[in-house]
Formats: sequence, structure tokens, C-alpha cells
Amino acid sequence: MTHLGALQRPNPGRHPQATTEEGQGGGRRSGQPSGSVRFFDYRPTPADVCAEVLEGLGRPAKRLSPKLFYDQHGSRLFDAITELPEYYPTRTEIGILREYGSEMADRLGRDNVLIELGSGSSLKIQILLAALRPRTYLPVDISREHLLESAYALAERFPGLAIRAACADYSAPFRLPLEPDWTDLAAFFPGSSIGNFDPDDARLLLRRVAGLLGAGGRLLIGVDLPKDPAILNAAYDDAQGVTAAFNLNLLTRINRELDGDFDLDAFAHRAFFNAAESRVEMHLVSRVDQRVRVAGAAFDFRAGETIHTESSYKYGTEVFKRLARDAGFLSEQVWTDPEGLFSVHCLRVRGVRPAACAAAPNQA
Ligand SMILES: C[S@@+](CC[C@H](N)C(=O)[O-])C[C@H]1O[C@@H](n2cnc3c(N)ncnc32)[C@H](O)[C@@H]1O
Repeated sequence: MTHLGALQRPNPGRHPQATTEEGQGGGRRSGQPSGSVRFFDYRPTPADVCAEVLEGLGRPAKRLSPKLFYDQHGSRLFDAITELPEYYPTRTEIGILREYGSEMADRLGRDNVLIELGSGSSLKIQILLAALRPRTYLPVDISREHLLESAYALAERFPGLAIRAACADYSAPFRLPLEPDWTDLAAFFPGSSIGNFDPDDARLLLRRVAGLLGAGGRLLIGVDLPKDPAILNAAYDDAQGVTAAFNLNLLTRINRELDGDFDLDAFAHRAFFNAAESRVEMHLVSRVDQRVRVAGAAFDFRAGETIHTESSYKYGTEVFKRLARDAGFLSEQVWTDPEGLFSVHCLRVRGVRPAACAAAPNQA
């Protein structure tokens, strides 16, 4: 058994009785049978994805968003990364959740509506579900198939749980399938995915989450800590080359979805800790001078030129508290592991939660 213990991964290819409500979230008052999954599709359109890729490749310093990693294969590769010996964040965060899960549930509150941002395989939430017993679990992820598989795996494992899975992009204002009378919202944002945003954008995203939760609402968020660069460099450039495959899969995806002609052998994975920015950077490095076409547009690469595909900021506890405060949160508690590798913060939106709100927002 791995460090993930008895946590259950999704079952590829199985979507029993999907209740799909394409873009129909919010506003419905009908009850949801417990143990059921309702799916809401608010994905970016293919045209949006194309425009974003062309814009990123057209910059003087080429850059693509890490959200593009997560097609179905990318999500599976990420799951494989979490099992690697070098990749400490997942097992460390899971250890913290196992150790302090009931304290976290005391903070977050029970029988509420629990939103998880970037839920992936919904692995970590399984540790908290028994303690939290949310009325509704609302996983949000950009990777549609993986989200569906994960939601159904969870419904099988927790038959009493009402699940509303939303495929959406949280890097921009996004919709959620919320009922107008849901005022007791809490959120879980694990995996240090907040570190994928530059600090200004991280602040913006946290501000949107604070607006979604409302005064007094709580957010439990995993944040990776600064540490020995050797540990960081190994975590993002593993010996088996799984992270390299994950990075390069982005080009495969562009070739498939956007009629690209990237030659994968002509690019290499590079990851390193940038101490000045306190972030790990992942790049795809062009091995040669070359011209690549995507959706009819041509992009020239010099040998050694890179596409910056991911940043992963590492925040000391006090630095992150400041960032959260600037976004409208108060820090309630921080848990870390004994080696000080990773942190989980409980944040509360400033202000007092009214006893009964008139309406919950459904635009984050
Ligand atoms: C680093 S993985 C973390 C997965 C899981 N939460 C964990 O902690 O292991 C990031 C997850 O967020 C999703 N994701 C990345 N960017 C996203 C975005 N802009 N909007 C919604 N989901 C996103 C990915 O599909 C993936 O499941």
C-alpha cells in the first residue's frame, strides 16, 4: 500500500447514471437525492482555449497556463506524480489532514455546503468527509472526465453524500451550481494550487473566493512551504520522468485539440527553483531553432528558448497570511508537518456571517 493508504482513486471510464445539466447551474430549488451526482458544465469553450494558447505563444517570453496540463491523460499523469518518492507535497498534506482532520472540521463547521477547488481525484477530501459530513459536496475542476470519474467514485464510497460536480475554470470569474438559499458555504483548496498563480493573481482569486463564501465563511487551503532547493528540484524533475511526461503532454494536447504540429522530441522538460521569486518554474525548452504551427498560426523558437508552463510559489506562513489578509481573510489556524515541508491554513472571511442571508451569490 502507498502513502495514500485506503483513499480511493477514480475508476476510469465509469460514469453511472450521470445527471448532466450542461450550463444549468443555480436557481433550482428541487432537492437532490443523497448519494447522487449532478454535473454542471461551465468549461471554457474550445475557442477560448485556442485564443489563450495563441496569446501565450505569441508573447516575447512564451507562457502557457498550467491549467492546460489537465486533459484526461494529464490528470492521470498528475495522479502518478503524487505517488512518486520525490513528490513530498501530496503525502505530506495527507499526513497533516489525517493528523488534524477533526480540528479542521471543528473550524470549518459541519452539515454545510463544501466547495472544493481543483478537486482532481477528490482524494484528500475523503479524509475530511467523515468528520465534516457536509450537506452537499461541490467539487470544481477544469478536467471534465476526471472530475466525473472522481465524483462517481466518491458517490460509491459515500452513498449518503449529495454531490454537485462543476467543470469550471477558477482562474477567471466562474459560475457554481449554488441554490439561492445556501448561505453556509465553506471551501477546501488543497494541493498548493494557489501557488500556481503569481501573487497578484493569487490575491485576486482569494478575493473572489472570499466574495463567494461571504462574511464569516471559511477556507481550508494547502500551501507549500519554502525549503531546501534540492528537495524542490527533485520533486518537479523526478528520476522516472513522469513530471517530464506531464509537462510535454501539454504539447500533445495542443497538437490534438488545436491542430498543432509540435515535435515532442524537439522539446525538453526543465524545472528549477527560482530563489528570487520563491517559486519552482517548469519550462519546455526548444532543443533546436524551429517553427511550430498551431491553429494556422506560426511560432518561431530559437534553440534554448522556453515556454514557461508552470510556476509553483512557495510561501512562508507569515507571507501567506499577509497575502490572505490583503484578499479579505483573517488567519484562524495553521497546521504543518513535523519537518516543516507543507502547511494547511484555515482562513475566515472578515466580517460577521449574518444569521440568515437573503441570497447566496453564484458568481465567484
Ligand atoms: C495540482 S492538481 C491538485 C489536485 C488535488 N486537489 C490535490 O491536491 O492533489 C490541480 C487540480 O486543479 C485542477 N485545475 C487546475 N487549474 C484549474 C483551473 N484553472 N480551474 C479549475 N481547475 C483547475 C486540475 O485539473 C487538477 O485536478
